[in-house]
Amino acid sequence: MAIKDRSRLDDHYSQKARSQGYPARSVYKLAEFDEKYSLFRSGQKVLDLGCAPGSWTMYAAEKVGPKGLVVGVDLAIPQGSFPEWVKLLAVDLLSVGDAETWGAEFFQLGADGVLSDLAPKTTGRREVDQARSLELALAAWSWAERLLKPGGFFLFKVFQSPAADEFIQRARVRFQKLIRLKPQASRKQSQEIFALLKGFKAE
Ligand SMILES: C[S@@+](CC[C@H](N)C(=O)[O-])C[C@H]1O[C@@H](n2cnc3c(N)ncnc32)[C@H](O)[C@@H]1O
Repeated sequence: MAIKDRSRLDDHYSQKARSQGYPARSVYKLAEFDEKYSLFRSGQKVLDLGCAPGSWTMYAAEKVGPKGLVVGVDLAIPQGSFPEWVKLLAVDLLSVGDAETWGAEFFQLGADGVLSDLAPKTTGRREVDQARSLELALAAWSWAERLLKPGGFFLFKVFQSPAADEFIQRARVRFQKLIRLKPQASRKQSQEIFALLKGFKAE
């Protein structure tokens, strides 16, 4: 796709998100994955890591409905109004310790899905950004591994690198299926890729 067409597509997604009441265009990445791979069902419990400004949380909440639960975690709690079955927490996922309690509190019976759109502040230095992104993906995996129910899914973002590939392959052995995704709504210059791991296997 030509650069001009691609940036028009970017604008299109941002405008569409605003007009549909979502705070960020990233909602269309999750919607695309959900349409293709049927991630959500009514009543599910979902953990959304790196949830601000809240588009994925809002989308997941609409899909799981009032019998479900979405726990959104970010460095600061996103503004805006969310349904009652959304719980928002301010947690630095790279600092262990304070995170121990909330996982147990909300997911005693396990999570059906763990989402991670976590992203570092980019520096423009490719290797530094890749390493920081991988560090966040590993933090997300440590929660997914602890909280997922058998059969659950883990959808996460990471910047492409050989080390990220190695990590994806390591996590993959705990699931039935790996699907690599590059959504339409990703910006062209973005290094991000998504991995969807489905069918968590109990150890
Ligand atoms: C791309 S945004 C997420 C967008 C979100 N999925 C949405 O649809 O609105 C990435 C988020 O990761 C969060 N993040 C980065 N490092 C974090 C950390 N150590 N702990 C918690 N959140 C973090 C950022 O604050 C940012 O809000």
